[in-house]
Amino acid sequence: MAARNDSMDLPVIDLDIFLNNPQSSPEVQAECKRAADALITYGALVLHDSRVAEKDNQDFLDLLEDYFAQPEEELRKDERPELSYQIGVTLENTEKPKCAVDEPCLDVIQRLAESERPLDIAGHSPDPKCRFFWRMAEPMPYQTEFPSLNAPNVIPQAESLKDRWTPAMDLWGTSMKSAVQNLAEMTAVGLGLPAETFKEAGKYGPHLLAPTASDLSRYGQKDTILAGFHTDLNFLTIHGRSRYPGLNIWARNTGKRIAVKIPEGNYLLVQAGKQLEHITGGLIKAGFHEVVVNQATIDTINRRKEQFPDRPLIRISSTFFWHLNSDHDLNPIPSLADKAKALRADQVNLGRDEGREVEYPPMKVGQLVQNELKHIALMA
Ligand SMILES: [Fe+2]
Repeated sequence: MAARNDSMDLPVIDLDIFLNNPQSSPEVQAECKRAADALITYGALVLHDSRVAEKDNQDFLDLLEDYFAQPEEELRKDERPELSYQIGVTLENTEKPKCAVDEPCLDVIQRLAESERPLDIAGHSPDPKCRFFWRMAEPMPYQTEFPSLNAPNVIPQAESLKDRWTPAMDLWGTSMKSAVQNLAEMTAVGLGLPAETFKEAGKYGPHLLAPTASDLSRYGQKDTILAGFHTDLNFLTIHGRSRYPGLNIWARNTGKRIAVKIPEGNYLLVQAGKQLEHITGGLIKAGFHEVVVNQATIDTINRRKEQFPDRPLIRISSTFFWHLNSDHDLNPIPSLADKAKALRADQVNLGRDEGREVEYPPMKVGQLVQNELKHIALMA
């Protein structure tokens, strides 16, 4: 596959193999194992899915650039602080990077070689990024204990947006949701579990199409932190290509910072989140990442200023958060928790310090989400 050289040395997993062959076939089994191993080793992988159309991503990016170019008073109409901002818009300087206040996280940074560390978040106040949450969930056939995590969508009302909003969001959101759900199946198979294990546990999850927006006309200086070093609180995060570079991810077992460059075409980037870490007892760790303005971002800003002088200079991330059901009992799967312990011991023998051992007490998924939201200042 041509993309191998251009995929930041992350494994490229081919969803087509999984979709086009019987599950018991050796090709499918091998590809699923590669997917699970990639998540264990790197916490991330590049996913190839021929069903994904780049044009749908471009239409989505255009729509979100237009949306976030609106005046602030227009955007404020779509805020829902009473629902912990878990639907509609979150404006800049609201969300704090968890690591700025979280000790285990600062410990992770300390253990990285100096050259591989994220930009310093110690004095970093809330992130200068905006975000929109668009829920892409199945209607729930039961009463949830977590209604605020499952609230109805907000549709922007500006004349130029309201008609094209829902179709464009749903089209691109469905592409990413299908891809990530199939990857959840592949991951289960690769971990030696029934294929439907995670997909079923996330059937009624509060999945979110969650683009972030950074105004590069105001926050375009080199080394500006657009989103400080953190992990995601959901199960798996999937990204389409952004128009501007700047996302860095950390490979779990190598400690290396990787500047994300998703190959052109039908490729997506996937990273593990906290729910996957919890259910695997730490066998797969949530992947750390940051978004910063680097030289490549600045080169792209200058190029787009010339090529598209009339377009807003806003970096949109093409991000989708896939969740387990809020009411799901989150308990490490025993066979995986055993493997996690063995892996941890191996790492110690190899001289790779993984830091303090993390506990994964049983709780509802919605509880984990609420605990994390308190950390990042979105919930009182
Ligand atoms: Fe994130």
